[in-house]
Amino acid sequence: MQNRSLILAHRGWSGRYPENTLLAFNESLTLGVDGFEFDVQLSADQVPVILHDPTVNRTTNGSGRVSEKSLEELRSLNAAHVWPHLPAQPIPLLGEVLNLIAQRNPSGFYNIEVKVYNEDWREVIDRFMPTLLHQSFGERVLISSFYHPCLYYLRDQFPNTPVGLLYEENVKNPWRDAMAMGAYSVNMDYHFITKKLVDDCHEAGVKVCAWTVDDANNLRTLAQWGVDVLISNHPDIALQTVRDL
Ligand code: G3P
Ligand code: MG
Repeated sequence: MQNRSLILAHRGWSGRYPENTLLAFNESLTLGVDGFEFDVQLSADQVPVILHDPTVNRTTNGSGRVSEKSLEELRSLNAAHVWPHLPAQPIPLLGEVLNLIAQRNPSGFYNIEVKVYNEDWREVIDRFMPTLLHQSFGERVLISSFYHPCLYYLRDQFPNTPVGLLYEENVKNPWRDAMAMGAYSVNMDYHFITKKLVDDCHEAGVKVCAWTVDDANNLRTLAQWGVDVLISNHPDIALQTVRDL
């Protein structure tokens, strides 16, 4: 167990910059985070791209489903559309984000969340894993998903890759599934984390990642309970909080 909770910027420093953009990732590293979390899915032509929603509607100046757009179409959009005072940003490619990590902080800790909005989840894994493995980050990149069948598939195909079981409900004893599959962590909505859950997970050899924690009081409590990874939209507040403990 590391001495203090790691601080990951959620979708990059998304409290201050456009989420899931190179700008938000770069700025979080400049701030001094331990790493960042980001969301991956495939374009229509099967290229791994970084975007949270199933559509481009909320975060860009376009409309329609990501899975129905070619990379060329996606790259013509502005992912900083709702931040008019900032320069336009493209939707990043997975390869670009991995290059950024390799250049700026390869010894950090990162979390790739696989978004499963379609039937193509095996293709998502098959497409992005070679790019990831090529960079040799070893155990510094955690792959998570709410859709657990894709994590079982990942574990079978790439057994050395750490996986995190994402939960959005208050499940009982999540470490049991994590232990059974040899997962690195359970990645919980922080509202459902208790001191007992943290202790039980650690006893089972399973780490606890908490999302998405923005309030200093909650950050402090979770850090004091020994939560391993705190994922925050406001990593500036999170870093300050854990440093002040
Ligand atoms: O991976 C933690 C968190 O990002 C999960 O929820 O919807 O923000 O991707 P969401
Ligand atoms: Mg996410």
